[in-house]
Amino acid sequence: MQLVWLEARDFRNYREVRVELGAGLTAVAGANGQGKTNLLEAMYYLCSLVSPRVSSDLPLVRAGADVAILRGEVATSGSRLLIEVEIRASGQNRVQVNRSSVRRKRDLRRQARAVFSSPDDLAIVLGDPGERRRFMDEAFVANWPAKDGAAPAYERTLRQRNRLLKDWEGQVGSGGPPGLEGWDAELITNGVALTELRAEAVERIRERAASEFEALAGPGGGTLLVAYQASVSGDPLADAFAAALDSRRADELIRRTTLVGPHRDDLGLVVQDLAARGFASHGEAWGAAVALKLALAGALANEIGQDPMLFLDDPFSGLDPARRERLAGGLAERGQVIMSVPDLAQVPPGAAVLGVEGGSVAQE
Ligand SMILES: Nc1ncnc2c1ncn2[C@@H]1O[C@H](COP(=O)(O)OP(=O)(O)O)[C@@H](O)[C@H]1O
Ligand SMILES: [Mg+2]
Repeated sequence: MQLVWLEARDFRNYREVRVELGAGLTAVAGANGQGKTNLLEAMYYLCSLVSPRVSSDLPLVRAGADVAILRGEVATSGSRLLIEVEIRASGQNRVQVNRSSVRRKRDLRRQARAVFSSPDDLAIVLGDPGERRRFMDEAFVANWPAKDGAAPAYERTLRQRNRLLKDWEGQVGSGGPPGLEGWDAELITNGVALTELRAEAVERIRERAASEFEALAGPGGGTLLVAYQASVSGDPLADAFAAALDSRRADELIRRTTLVGPHRDDLGLVVQDLAARGFASHGEAWGAAVALKLALAGALANEIGQDPMLFLDDPFSGLDPARRERLAGGLAERGQVIMSVPDLAQVPPGAAVLGVEGGSVAQE
């Protein structure tokens, strides 16, 4: 899959910009604060309708403007998509694909597939379990965009069940709040769906991440083990979930919150036989973070039969020179890759170059 061109108006620090992109590797080069990440963000947003950096759209609109406009064309093995997005500082965005309105993100996302890796992904390796749950959710939505409602559905049920437990004024011995069984059933249904999606996504990423990590680290550079640590496991999963809820019932009534379910999942990441979080060096952690995203891109390629667009923001920043070289060496076989680098000296051989300075782009 290839982003062929992109136009952005009033997006972040860009007033007006147009870039043409090749099918292979492009390096976006420029000093700090010039707009490299913003440009990659614009490209990724065009394809996925979400920012990899912020959850609200407001920061995307150039300070002083009301609307940001992104336009661009994506070529897939079977089709061409002209994507046009109006991002409003307040109010509804408008999205058109081939001149027809698109209301749901998934309707674009199942056609245009992209993966974004950035130094913020260090949080997946070093941050709280919530970061890893978010990554697992991102991974299954990237693979199966139609499943983008699974995590929100579970979270809604969880919130309501927690509210019921919190507001309950009865005694612990008395059996719990009326209506709890109904919420148990819904928690189990939505929880099983989410658990299965995470399990399948991790299954597809696990071995790929290990080999990406090893390829990056080089001989003797260590290993990465990835494992889904589900709050509930067993077969059939729904029965195991019900049994786990039963066994924690008394605790739940005392603590007035839900103690079982995928909101307590984690993703185990082990580097060199030690938990990455707390033990990995900065370079190892960064290597693991990049490997996870490369693995996601590989899984996606396998799922859809073509390479997704791959955006690598500052991938060299946390890597030593040998790792940089190994990463750069493998990029030619990954379809279209757009990466950012802080100076021209770091542009990998053979890459097309876009020079970014103060919100304008020179095509070199
Ligand atoms: N909504 C916005 N309006 C105007 N400028 C913005 C907006 N959002 C970010 N910027 C500016 O963009 C610059 C950072 O761009 P960025 O792409 O992150 O830099 P880098 O080249 O280091 O990746 C900062 O100077 C920031 O002030
Ligand atoms: Mg940047």
